[in-house]
Amino acid sequence: MKNFLFFISVLFLLSGATAGAKEVNKGMCGSYFNMFCTRCHVIDRLCEGLKKNDNKKWRDIITKMAEYDDLDQDIQDTTHACLTGMQAGDPLVCKKK
Ligand code: HEC
Repeated sequence: MKNFLFFISVLFLLSGATAGAKEVNKGMCGSYFNMFCTRCHVIDRLCEGLKKNDNKKWRDIITKMAEYDDLDQDIQDTTHACLTGMQAGDPLVCKKK
């Protein structure tokens, strides 16, 4: 019986984790930005964007960026999750002046 309950809670946890937003961490976000978002412009663009973009706006911008270049769905989803999880002025994209 105990095992059964344990099994159910694991299932519950797993489904919760996959149904929610994509899991990202800072290290991963940093390398995605460097690999895919600084090819055409400086990272300051992302810093500027943090001040004004909400979830939907970021989605539109990233979709547009993906049209300029070949950014696959995973790259779009990951960078979107990264950017929407960040505060304005985050040092990951905002260089100290
Ligand atoms: C193939 C080149 C290219 C790549 C790769 C690219 N961008 Fe851009 N980006 C542009 C150009 C060109 C502009 C300016 C014209 C415009 O706004 O459409 C721009 C503008 C922006 C802006 C300002 C747009 C606004 O309306 O405020 C943001 C924010 C931005 N890019 C974020 C990103 C992010 C995040 C990535 C990585 C997922 C990325 N870019 C990858 C070419 C690129």
